[in-house]
This record gives sequence, structure tokens and C-alpha cells, in this order.
Amino acid sequence: MKQQVAILISGTGSNASRLMSYFKENEHINICGLLSSKENASLSSVCAEYSIPFVHLTPTDAAENYITKCKQWGANWIVLAGFLKKIPVPFIAAFPDRILNIHPSLLPNYGGKGMYGHYVHQAVAKAQEAFSGISIHLVNEEFDKGKLLFQHAVALPKGIDAEGIEKEVRALEAIHFAADLETYILSITE
Ligand code: GAR
Repeated sequence: MKQQVAILISGTGSNASRLMSYFKENEHINICGLLSSKENASLSSVCAEYSIPFVHLTPTDAAENYITKCKQWGANWIVLAGFLKKIPVPFIAAFPDRILNIHPSLLPNYGGKGMYGHYVHQAVAKAQEAFSGISIHLVNEEFDKGKLLFQHAVALPKGIDAEGIEKEVRALEAIHFAADLETYILSITE
């Protein structure tokens, strides 16, 4: 039986697109659906190419609707790929230790409420950090505080701005996210 992964997004979905491509013919892992808290016509057509259902649910939709959709798809894993809404407790309870998130900094630094996407990179630039990176972690009731599974760092040149940092961090996401998910999911299920 393949592991079934539902992806949740709020942004452009570049990570989600890569995950769909990476797991397209994977022997063990299948992307069973994509839930977006924003309209996203271009990602919806990418999903259609892969025959993966795409559903838009607004951020105000009840947690129950998210849970029902993921369960309908037979998901046993949830991956947050740039999902900016806090995951409500009933959702966490429905998929215990099976919700993974990618965060664009070296947690515990630059995590928590309001710390997402470009805001993270602006804060890292302002603090003139020598390193940034990505963290892949389990999701619990507290924003960005679940168990860390993988981290990858990049050295930052002096004076680099937020856009430059974002480019470096996105490059790490492109290299590691899908492979780390595969490693973790298989380590639990095989
Ligand atoms: C990614 O950089 C991801 O790490 C970040 O949002 C971006 C989504 O980009 N996630 C967070 O900030 C979570 N707190 P994408 O829509 O192009 O994949």
C-alpha cells in the first residue's frame, strides 16, 4: 500500500509543484490531493496534468472541511508546503505525528506567528545572520515548535539582502524537501 500524502499550500506552490513531479512515479509514496487556501489557477492546472485533485478552501473554512477532504482522498500524511494558516487542534488530532511542515529558517530562530515567507528573510537580513537555511519538522499545537526532523544551512555573504537570502533558501528547498520527506515517511512506514 502506497503512503498517501495531501499537500496544503497558501502561496504560489512552487514547492508543491516540485513534490508532485518528484513523487510522480514513486513506488511507495503518492500525492493524493492538494488543498489551497488561496485561488491558484496555474497550480490547479499543474495538478490536472498530474491527475491530482486540487481544491480551494478559504482560510475561514472550518477545520472539519480540511479534515474531511484529506480523509476522502485517503491521506495518511499531510505536508504543509507554504501553508500559512495555523493548523487547528482537531486537524492535528486527526493526523497525529503525520503532519510535516517546511519552514524557511533554522528553527527555533525566526519561527512563530507572523514569521513566514519574505518576513523571515527580512528578519534574517536585518540581524545580519551568518547563516540561514530550512527546517522540516512535525507540526504540533504551537507554531513552528514541533519536533525537528531535518535542517540544512547555507552561509550568507556579508550584506546580503532579504531577496538574496530567499534565493539561497529556496535553492535548499529545491534540493532537499522532497528527498527528506521520502526519507522520513519511509523510515516510519517501511
Ligand atoms: C516556502 O519558502 C516555505 O518555506 C515557506 O513559504 C514558501 C512557500 O513558497 N513557508 C513558511 O514560511 C511557513 N512558515 P511556495 O508557495 O513557492 O512553495
